[in-house]
Parts: sequence; structure tokens; C-alpha cells
Amino acid sequence: MPTVWATTRGGETRQIEARPGMSLKDNLKRGGMDEILGICGGCASCGTCHVYVAEDWVERLPPIQPDEETILAFSDWREPNSRLSCQIKVTDALEGLCVTVAPED
Ligand code: FES
Repeated sequence: MPTVWATTRGGETRQIEARPGMSLKDNLKRGGMDEILGICGGCASCGTCHVYVAEDWVERLPPIQPDEETILAFSDWREPNSRLSCQIKVTDALEGLCVTVAPED
């Protein structure tokens, strides 16, 4: 299981042993990241799973698809390293991924 490092809005970092095949959003919630709401269930329509990925991971993740781009465009907190964690499927290749929960819109 790849280890993912997740930082809360308050700056607390947690180590999460992520399950491959599940979304990053579901893994973050499993790991106790309560700030990740995911109220749409992971269909890229709510934006409540918004995270910032560490700069060195931006190019290593699958590219943003149009649905994800549309939702991120609505966020006041959009940054170049913004992603919807529900749209990232965990694989072993994500070993060491670092993310930070984005501010709430
Ligand atoms: Fe709703 Fe990701 S869970 S956009």
C-alpha cells in the first residue's frame, strides 16, 4: 500500500496507508481527514474534496479532465497544483504523494 502524506488546513500532517484502486478522496476520508467532505460521492460535481498536491507531484499525476477542470474553475482557491482528490485513483505509483486540504469555498 502506498503511503500518502496529507496535511490539514491547520497544518497537521498525517501519514495514510492508501488502498490502491480506491480514490484518493476515499483514502483521505478513511485516514481521518474530516475536512474532505466529498458530498457528491466522487462524481466531480461538488468541489469539497479539493486538495493541493506538492509541486513535484503535479506532472506525475494523471491530467485533469474537463469535468474536474469545470469544478476547480468555480473555486476561489484554485491554484496551479489544485486537484479534486476524488478524481485521482490511488496506485502504487503514488508512493510518497503529499497533499494539503484546500480552504473551504
Ligand atoms: Fe465531489 Fe470530489 S467528491 S467533487
